[in-house]
Amino acid sequence: MSGLLGARSNPVLSDGQTTLRRFTAADAPAFAAIHTDPLNIMWTASDPAMTVREAGELIEGSIARGWEDGRYLRFAITDMLDGAPAVVGTLSLQDVFSTAGGGSAGVGIKMLPSGRGTGAAHRAIGLLCGYAFGNLGLEILHWRATAGNEASASLARRSGFVLAAEIPGYGHVDGTVADGLMFTLTRNGYHVLDGMPAGSGPLDIKPAVPVLAGDRVVLRALNMSDAPDLVDNCRHPDAVRWTTVPLDYSMADADLYINKISVEGWRTGRTLTFAAADPDTDELLGTVDLQCNAPGAAAVGINFGPHARGTGAAEEAVRLLLDYAFDQLNLAWVHWIAMVPNWASRKLAWKLGFHYDGQGRGDYNDRGTPADRWLLSLAAGEPRNPAQPWTGPAPRSG
Ligand SMILES: CC(C)(COP(=O)(O)OP(=O)(O)OC[C@H]1O[C@@H](n2cnc3c(N)ncnc32)[C@H](O)[C@@H]1OP(=O)(O)O)[C@@H](O)C(=O)NCCC(=O)NCCS
Repeated sequence: MSGLLGARSNPVLSDGQTTLRRFTAADAPAFAAIHTDPLNIMWTASDPAMTVREAGELIEGSIARGWEDGRYLRFAITDMLDGAPAVVGTLSLQDVFSTAGGGSAGVGIKMLPSGRGTGAAHRAIGLLCGYAFGNLGLEILHWRATAGNEASASLARRSGFVLAAEIPGYGHVDGTVADGLMFTLTRNGYHVLDGMPAGSGPLDIKPAVPVLAGDRVVLRALNMSDAPDLVDNCRHPDAVRWTTVPLDYSMADADLYINKISVEGWRTGRTLTFAAADPDTDELLGTVDLQCNAPGAAAVGINFGPHARGTGAAEEAVRLLLDYAFDQLNLAWVHWIAMVPNWASRKLAWKLGFHYDGQGRGDYNDRGTPADRWLLSLAAGEPRNPAQPWTGPAPRSG
């Protein structure tokens, strides 16, 4: 497929308002301005010291070579400003990997202030996708954003990209390492969107999270009024010690978890997270989730705040979760994994009827260090009360 490209490849893609074309030497001032823009410096690989001369050298040098070998196709985005086309940003297909039946590439975009908020970026991505999936015959595009770069993530979503992975430490912002988000769009996904009326984006489907009500606790969707309690619960030393919550949990972590991670978990069906709230006050007591990593089985995740522990709320929350898992989702197995020696967790699992299956040596990733883990399981139809004698420490109260 890269044979279709080459030195003479000079596509011009346009919808009449926004145009993608190759950079020319005359664009050097705009290219330098793109790289010295503060937002682009913050969120993307931009050279803040780029001069117009260096920009010109890049356009004639590595950018031209990218077109020649077909591996890095950098476009100028132009839009009509005051009746005339002007460069408002740059959009590229990076690491183009063409195969006989398809291939992949990454998408990179940087806008100038004059192009932001005008719809030019969205139109440009539509043109690029048509070129990548149509002309180049690629089958998947990747979009990498740094966690916190809401403008980029939202543009990706509006353009039909779907969050595929959240990768710890895969980005950087302000000179520090940050998490990265990887979005993808497939050729099939694009063609579904392409068949829609112009201007319509993908359906913004908010998953419906069921409400499971008990006497001591209600399981419901998380919302931003839970954020302060969620931060407290996740900063508690027991949560840090026994779970995989991010360290120094912040309101930004809570925001990401409530609005993105848990929503995406419900949308994909991979991780079904509930807030466990006080039925009278709606105060957040903790969270429970089902991690559905294999057909027919899921693992429980749980974290309750210290104020709610020892009250029976966690036990009832998991009972509601188990009813849901076995009766609504029709799962055959629910597993419980605890890092050794998390006796509070193991005791709760024991109370709920989980069978102790054994100890995996070095099989738990404790923030980068192998630790042992206990594995417990409960099958559909098994009683939800202790299945075996308690062999752990005596109750702390007794
Ligand atoms: C695990 C957790 C959800 C359990 O909730 P809880 O409300 O404390 O549960 P319960 O009170 O019903 O049961 C816990 C039992 O463990 C016991 N226990 C707690 N810490 C213990 C310890 N260090 N050694 C021995 N037993 C302990 C409690 O006394 C209680 O037993 P009892 O009812 O016989 O007195 C809660 O402690 C929590 O959120 N912890 C922090 C996060 C976590 O560890 N999550 C689980 C990851 S697998």
